[in-house]
Amino acid sequence: MPGAVPNPLRNALDRRLPRIAGPSVLVLFGVTGDLAQKKLLPAIYDLANRGLLPPAFGLVGFARRDWEHQDFIRQTHDAVREHARTPFREEVWRQLSEGIRFVQGELHDDEAFDKLAHTVGELDHQRGTGGNYGFYLSLPPKLFPTVLKQLKRSGLTEPDPGAWRRVVIEKPFGHDLESARDLNAVVDEVFPPQSVFRIDHYLGKETVQNIMALRFANTLFEPVWNRGYVDHVQITMAEDIGVGGRAGYYDGIGAARDVIQNHLLQLLALVAMEEPVSFTADAIRTEKEKVLSAVTLPPDLAAGTARGQYAAGWQGSTEVRDYLEEEGIPSDSATETYAAMKLGVNTRRWAGVPFYLRTGKRLGRRVTEVALVFQRAPHQMFSRGDVSELGENALVVRIQPDEGVTLRFGSKVPGAAMEVRDVTMDFTYGQSFTEASPEAYERLILDVLIGDPPLFPRQEEVELSWKILDPVEEFWAKNGRPEQYEAGTWGPASADELLARDGRQWRRP
Ligand code: BG6
Repeated sequence: MPGAVPNPLRNALDRRLPRIAGPSVLVLFGVTGDLAQKKLLPAIYDLANRGLLPPAFGLVGFARRDWEHQDFIRQTHDAVREHARTPFREEVWRQLSEGIRFVQGELHDDEAFDKLAHTVGELDHQRGTGGNYGFYLSLPPKLFPTVLKQLKRSGLTEPDPGAWRRVVIEKPFGHDLESARDLNAVVDEVFPPQSVFRIDHYLGKETVQNIMALRFANTLFEPVWNRGYVDHVQITMAEDIGVGGRAGYYDGIGAARDVIQNHLLQLLALVAMEEPVSFTADAIRTEKEKVLSAVTLPPDLAAGTARGQYAAGWQGSTEVRDYLEEEGIPSDSATETYAAMKLGVNTRRWAGVPFYLRTGKRLGRRVTEVALVFQRAPHQMFSRGDVSELGENALVVRIQPDEGVTLRFGSKVPGAAMEVRDVTMDFTYGQSFTEASPEAYERLILDVLIGDPPLFPRQEEVELSWKILDPVEEFWAKNGRPEQYEAGTWGPASADELLARDGRQWRRP
């Protein structure tokens, strides 16, 4: 209405309305794969169960497997029953399954894609999905060119006026800078940049988004969030599982390419970036890119990085085998299952503050956290214990499990003496909120359907991350094998030495 005065209350209420996807079809490639079965299909059901998918929604699975429609429905039903986060409700499933279709075929087969185009068109007509299609490529990247070419050839990438077409791609986005560029060139030929959604599922985690809330919705933390107060930052992603059935993907890739290039560098970017001018995709990505382009490697990569490979050991009460004895792993594999590195961030806010990143499989326990460790008080007039960590205040964002935030500080020990000991103050999601956190994939699939891209990295971020990692990978490739560490421990000795040289130590979460 011309001249209408914006009503702040109305805006505030509007923002609280849940976001619901509009009419759309999601086409899922790689639908028989692990990710689709364990995460994607259950997440789609969970969205439906939460009322976030419209009745005008359709799902099309495409796979080689010789399934009839009913087989796919049964398989999807079982995957949902087993892995969905929310309770199974017959009526939700019935409504959802009425919009499910299956297309059997090979990726290089023109006829299969013609059949796909026909099925999607028919579904669009039956369900009223408005010609809006998303294509989720849950496939190895080497298959992308074929699928993209086929989508284009069959006319599926060309929307009618007012409708949209989007493509979702899963990491790995290449295995180095050059291959990431090649991959992007392939995608770029078919979809414009604003229609490409690159999934880094860490960004879909509530606790990862909470880094931004913590920093920019409060006044308490930002004044100390800099080199004046922070001694160093530790970003840990530890897993207790081994390589499992993923040997084919993992071997030759290793821990750094698998998760540092994406999840951990994204965490670093969120922790180190400046405040975006708004909560929009472009503003956030711009800040992340600025900070990623300011990341520096240590001059001596031998001293500033560490890598390891798990050896046999005990994971709790279970005896587990050596990486080299895992199924599908060559007995001379030099792939690292543990990686750690010390990075710098050359900005006014962070110059001189080390960011230590580490990740590994078969470590002591599963935990992902970001810890800002603060400088010690310049002068201590109270008596303190002899633990070396004592006196280092820390703010720990617990990404998973046990999602929350911990603040560690010194406090007086009750008694006649003025003795100080470290205590913690905890915020735990489970206790503060009644609603359980959605799975990362629920949030990200919903964002794709809504067309909301803040949580999806741009190609520039992908390239900047490879620029950081490539020299490390080259250095490692030329310098022998990773050091072995016993399964169930906290990684190779060289990782501890990396921090010890700086007079610091890894946190033991
Ligand atoms: C994936 C990696 O991106 O993240 C896996 O490829 C890893 O190797 C997984 O196990 C961990 O995800 P999450 O959400 O369980 O921390």
